[in-house]
Formats: sequence, C-alpha cells, structure tokens
Amino acid sequence: MKIFIDSADLAQIREAFSWGIVDGITTNPSLIKKAVEKLKASGEGTSMKDYICRMLEVAGDTPVSLEVIGTTEKTMTAQGQWLYETFNHVAGNVVVKIPVNPGTTAGSSTRYDGLKSIRTLSQAGIPINTTLIFTPEQALLAAKAGATFVSPFAGRIDDHLRKVVGSTAGKESYWPREGQKDAQSGHSAEDNGIVSGVDLVAQIVDIFQVHDFDCEVLAASIRNPRQARECALAGADIATIPFEVIREMIEHPKTVEGMVAFCKDIVPEYENLLPKG
Ligand code: G3P
Repeated sequence: MKIFIDSADLAQIREAFSWGIVDGITTNPSLIKKAVEKLKASGEGTSMKDYICRMLEVAGDTPVSLEVIGTTEKTMTAQGQWLYETFNHVAGNVVVKIPVNPGTTAGSSTRYDGLKSIRTLSQAGIPINTTLIFTPEQALLAAKAGATFVSPFAGRIDDHLRKVVGSTAGKESYWPREGQKDAQSGHSAEDNGIVSGVDLVAQIVDIFQVHDFDCEVLAASIRNPRQARECALAGADIATIPFEVIREMIEHPKTVEGMVAFCKDIVPEYENLLPKG
C-alpha cells in the first residue's frame, strides 16, 4: 500500500518525505486553510502560488492532489483545468480533486456535476481524485466517470457511527472494522450497510477487483495507526495519512525498551569494528 501525507503544511511534508516512505500528497481547502493560518502566525509572507509550487517540488515525481472549490460543472471544470495548466509544469505531478457530489443540499440539481467534470477533465488527460466518497456506489460512479483515484472518508464514517451508538469517544479513537452493536437495540450500527470506515474501503476494493476497474482506492480521513493497518489489510491501494498519525505508526514501547537493552550490551570489540558514521 502506498502512503500519501494528508497535509498542506510544507514543514510536515518536507519532514515526512525525508523519512523515505511517502508516495504522494493530498490537500483540501481545510488543510490549505490550516497551513495559511500557520504561515500567517509565523509572520512568513509568501504567495499561495509560490507555496504550492514548493509543495509540488518536494513531492517530486509523486502525485499531489489540489482541490477545486466550485460547486458546478462549469466552475469545477474551469478550476481543474486552471490548476493543471498553472501547476503541472512544475513537477508533472498535479492531480485535480473533485467532490463526487458537489450539491450542498440533498437532491441538489447540481448533484451530477462532479461526475460531469470528472468525465471532461479525465478525457482531457487530467488525473482526478474523487473526494467525499461515503458509499461504494459513489465510488463506482466516479470510477465509471474516469477518475484515477477515489477517496473514501473512513474516519468520518466512524464519526457518524459513533454518533448512532451514542459514543462520546474522540475522533481519533479506534472504531472496529466489524462495527459495533448499539447497546439498546443490539443491532450493529450501520450506514447504508456500512459498519465502519474500513468496511467502506474494503467494499470499494472488492467492487473494483470484481469488475477490474483501473481506478485506485485511496483511503482518506485516517485517524489512527490501526485504521491505516486495516486499510492495508483490506487492500486499499493508498492511504492518505496525517503527519501525526504517520509519526504514531513508528512507535512501540517495546521497541524503545529493546533499543535501550541493545545499546547497553555493545562491547568495545564490536563497536571498534564498525564505522562511526
Ligand atoms: O483526506 C481527507 C481528510 O483530510 C479528511 O480528514 O480527519 O477531517 O475527516 P478528516
């Protein structure tokens, strides 16, 4: 499974790439807002355009998703084309992020505009990451429209299910892949037959395998290391993971304990043999 960093924070992106395990970047308007606020607070003045260019350079030949902000076919297509034309020359790695359904009310008349933009932009050779996927059906439609990636939001499904069972556990807490029963009814909490964010990812992976879709499943809204592990087990092609969660993935107290013991046992005969670095 590839690992993308879900961040627009250049310092975090640089650091994570230096670890040698990052295969791409995803951003969205909320992550850009966070990064801009951090920049402003530090007093560092930079243009948004330069900032994005620096991000693309750090990513090198790995994909970077930049999201449109429009909510109609016309604006999303124009913005997608603009993002690609403006930034892809920097490192040839721009992916345009389009919401699967840009309607801001249920049953909105623009609810198919995401699919229409995906079709137009992908036919023009622009790779598309479809965002805000909450059902396998949405993923299926996005893949059919020509998307290169679909992004199921695992953590936000878990948020919804926690609410259904009345759990007050925080958004970083682990929600089991097999779901959890509602204490009162005894039934598994579910959303449209989905019992967890990882279940959503797994069902999309299954559909794409059965039908041989050439579209990658990019598990998003990952909140803890165990969720990342379960997405890998479920066959996600990619997980986009926040900086702090990637950091947590390297930790175990027994690893630290083992290192302390190994370091204590080093004898001079062995130490003198090895280069000091
Ligand atoms: O990649 C999508 C992600 O940024 C959303 O994450 O934690 O806000 O649900 P979250």
